[in-house]
Amino acid sequence: MAAPTVMDKLVSLAKRRGFVFQSSEVYGGLGSVWDYGPLGVELKKNVKDRWWQAMVQARDDIEGLDAAILMHPKVWEASGHVAGFTDPLVDCRTCKARFRADKLADAACPQKPSKHPGEHSTCDLTEPRLFNLMFKTFMGPVEEQAAVVYLRPETAQGIYVNYLNVLNSSRQKIPFGIAQIGKAFRNEITPGNFIFRTREFEQMEMQFFVKPGTDDEWFQRWRALRMAWHHDLGLNPDKLRWHQHGPTELAHYARAAYDIEYQFPFGWQEIEGVHNRTDFDLKRHQEHSGKKLEYFEQASGERYVPFIVETSAGADRVTLTVLVDAYREEQVEGELRVVLGFHPKIAPIKAAVLPLVNKDRMPEMAAALYNDLRRHFPCFYDDGGAIGRRYRRMDEVGTPFCLTVDGQSAEDGQVTVRHRDSMQQDRIALGQVLSFLRERL
Ligand code: GAP
Repeated sequence: MAAPTVMDKLVSLAKRRGFVFQSSEVYGGLGSVWDYGPLGVELKKNVKDRWWQAMVQARDDIEGLDAAILMHPKVWEASGHVAGFTDPLVDCRTCKARFRADKLADAACPQKPSKHPGEHSTCDLTEPRLFNLMFKTFMGPVEEQAAVVYLRPETAQGIYVNYLNVLNSSRQKIPFGIAQIGKAFRNEITPGNFIFRTREFEQMEMQFFVKPGTDDEWFQRWRALRMAWHHDLGLNPDKLRWHQHGPTELAHYARAAYDIEYQFPFGWQEIEGVHNRTDFDLKRHQEHSGKKLEYFEQASGERYVPFIVETSAGADRVTLTVLVDAYREEQVEGELRVVLGFHPKIAPIKAAVLPLVNKDRMPEMAAALYNDLRRHFPCFYDDGGAIGRRYRRMDEVGTPFCLTVDGQSAEDGQVTVRHRDSMQQDRIALGQVLSFLRERL
């Protein structure tokens, strides 16, 4: 049997330690749909909170929004998704596998895998058929008479149709942005690689509305800001790069597009897109709704439809990226140590309190410390098993600091801080623990 790959190990760790579970697992799972467990929900929330902090709370020129998943079906006609949000699909008559015609080079035939993944000489492929990726459902009680509605395939459209509402209810002027985090759905033909490409996922999108002619400048500014955000998340900069879309890759709405790519174990892949969408979307909504979506610039007396620079990242994809980037194995004194070396700011558990021996006043001291710290950030209390094993359990879920309360603590009022990455241990006064952690989180 082949040795497990890094992805195999990560998927298994994610399940064992409560990061990510397969959806409806007791029924055999649902294809490429995943659930986040107790630690996964904290990790993903930390990613989203950092995005919201940087994009909305730290800026005066961006407002937040939470638009509904279901929208008027005309939105998707206007946006071009009904006609154009398709992938070319081919079936193999021999092996019955289904491929994206434009991604054949990356896929292997499951029945006759050759040494060359893109080789399909043994496949009997059908002609490509265009397959729309939007999930459809019905609104209203009687299916036949009810209107078809779609589960949104991107959150962006909820922002476009609300842009005047936000503008008129806030004190913004162009240039300004609207940001939102929310679910999106795509009936992907070839999903996979764990939570990399799924059918239900969350996007963190920001649409920046600018005066036509200033769009190139803003596009470059947003590219720089978004790359800096990924660096700030603690990702290895050597594993991040830009990919510029060539003319055949550009989405129907984009004049220019760059992806931020990360070097996953399965290759360089997109984690975020920065797009110059021009006035395409607002002009289309103007035509299809019959409502004017122009901006009146008081200073110049000009009226125009703004251009839009979009930054669009997947919350699940960035969560996978931080997991992959953090995962490492080391040999320590002849034993394997598995570590998730998360940046402390995104670690799901910030500190663990570990009483060493159950005697004297230690359990009370440890419990008091734990109860104090947990009011400030997610902490964990573990009094089970040998201390080395307790450290390893915390390393494996990426807890940056362990605080050990021992026999000495009752006498000198100090605890041992054990650092996840260096495994170094220092003594600090109980009264300083909170400020010590605050400075590092
Ligand atoms: N509004 C623009 C837009 O949706 P996109 O390049 O199709 O652009 C943006 O998607 C981001 O959303 C991607 O960079 C990726 O992080 C995430 N994403 C897209 N499809 C996904 C899927 N099937 N599963 C997980 N994340 C996905």
